[in-house]
Amino acid sequence: MLGLQWGDEGKGKIVDFITPHYEVVARFQGGPNAGHTLEFNGIKHVLHTIPSGIFRDNTINIVGNGVVIDPVTLKKEIEALKKLNVDISKKLFISRKAHLIIPTHRLLDAASEAMKGKGKIGSTLRGIGPSYMDKTGRNGLRVGDVESKDFLARYKSLCDKHCELLKQMNYPCKLDELEPEFFDGIEALKALNLVDSEHLLNRYLSEGKKILAEGAQGSLLDIDFGSYPFVTSSNTVTAGACTGLGISPRHIGNVYGIFKAYCTRVGSGPFPTELNDATGEQLRKAGNEFGSTTGRPRRTGWLDLPALKYAIMINGVTDLIMMKGDVLSGFDTLMVCTHYMYRGKKIDYMPYDIVHEDATPVYEQLKGWNTDLTGIQQEKDFPAALSDYIAYIEEHTGVPVSVISVGPDRVQTIERKKMSMAYLS
Ligand code: GDP
Ligand code: IMO
Ligand code: MG
Repeated sequence: MLGLQWGDEGKGKIVDFITPHYEVVARFQGGPNAGHTLEFNGIKHVLHTIPSGIFRDNTINIVGNGVVIDPVTLKKEIEALKKLNVDISKKLFISRKAHLIIPTHRLLDAASEAMKGKGKIGSTLRGIGPSYMDKTGRNGLRVGDVESKDFLARYKSLCDKHCELLKQMNYPCKLDELEPEFFDGIEALKALNLVDSEHLLNRYLSEGKKILAEGAQGSLLDIDFGSYPFVTSSNTVTAGACTGLGISPRHIGNVYGIFKAYCTRVGSGPFPTELNDATGEQLRKAGNEFGSTTGRPRRTGWLDLPALKYAIMINGVTDLIMMKGDVLSGFDTLMVCTHYMYRGKKIDYMPYDIVHEDATPVYEQLKGWNTDLTGIQQEKDFPAALSDYIAYIEEHTGVPVSVISVGPDRVQTIERKKMSMAYLS
C-alpha cells in the first residue's frame, strides 16, 4: 500500500480502513517526515513513525528495518496513544536494525538546507537525509545498539563527528536542550518490544498470516525515481518493502496505489500541473491542504496522468485507490494532464529531467459535478460526471480504481469491487 504522487495521498486513512483484513501492518521506510492522518468516531490522529494499524484490535504493528526512528518523536507518539487508551504493549514491535535519528542529524538537516539557500529541498527538517546518509556511509547507530554497553560512547563519537561537520558549515552544534529529551526517548525506546523483525515477519508469512506493508511519502519522492534531488532519502516504491522489511519479492501480492483525485506537493521541486491561481487556492481550501507534519500550505494542481502512469509502472500497481473525490465537487470543469510538451515534442511519459527543463502540461477537459459526495455510501449514488472521471482514469492507466474516498473519516470510503486483498504471502 503506497502513495503514487508526492505524499499525503491519504495512506493513513486507507491503511486504517483495510487493516481489519490483515494480521500485521508494517512500515518499511521513511521516518517522522511522514504524517499519516486517521479519523474515526470523532477522533483525528496523526501518526509519524507508528504504523496506521495501531488503532485496530488484534493487529500487530511493526516498524521495519528500513525506517529511521527519532526516539523523541516516537515517545511523543506513544504518549498520545496512551492518552487514547491504546495499549501498544502487545501490538507494537520495533526492528533492531532500524536506524536512529540523533539530535545532530536534525541540526545537519537544517544546516544543509540553510546552505542550499534558494535551491533548498524544502525538507521537513526531521533529520531524515543525514540519518540515511550515515546508514549508507556505514556510520549509523541502530535501534539494537541501545541494548549494548558501549551505546553512549558510540553515540558520543558520532555526535562529535557531526559537531565538527556543523562547525565547517558555520552552524551551531547546540545540544543542551536536545540531548535530555533524546536520552529520555532512548529510555522509552528500550522499554518497547525490540525485535529481529525480518525473522518475525518471515515467521508470520510461513504461518499464513496476512501482512500489509505501509508506505510513507510517495513514489515521486523516491530517491531513485522521484524528481531528484527534490526527493526524500529512501525507496518509497514497492521494492522498498522488500529491503525495508526483509521480505522476498516472491511474497509481494497485490499492490495498492493511493492517489488524490488531483495533485499536491509540499516542499520544493518540479510540479508540472501546479496551479498558482485562484483555482489552486480553491483546491487548497476545499482539500484543507496543509502539511500534517509541518503545517506548511501544500502546493496544489490538477491530476497528472503521465506522472501517475509512471508511478503505476514502477510499483506494479494492481489496484488504484482514489482519495478526496469530494474536494473536486463544485468545479464546472476538471482538467486532467494527459501529455507534456517537452523539448518541443508532445510526450505521454515522465522524462528524465523535469528539474532543469520544463514539462508543460497538455490538458483534456472533463465535466465536473456539483453534488456533495461526503455522505455517499454506494457507487450507484455517484453523479454521472464522477463515474466518468473514474472511468477515464481507468482507461488511461489500465488499472481498476477499487476504492473511492469521499471524506477524511473511516466510514467515508466506498469499495467499488471487493478488494483482492493486498497481502504479502
Ligand atoms: P498520508 O500522509 O498519505 O497519510 O496523508 P495525510 O494524512 O498527510 O493527508 C491526507 C489528508 O486528507 C488528511 O488530513 C486526511 O484526513 C484527509 N483525507 C483523507 N482522505 C480524504 C478524503 O477522501 N476527503 C477529504 N476531504 N479528506 C481526506
Ligand atoms: P507522508 O508519508 C509529503 C517531502 C518534503 C520535502 C522532501 C524531502 O505524510 O506522505 P525530507 O524531510 O524527507 O528530507 O523531505 O520530501 N516529504 C513529504 N511530503 N508527505 C510526506 O510524507 C513527506 N515526507 C517528506 O516536504 O519536499
Ligand atoms: Mg502525510
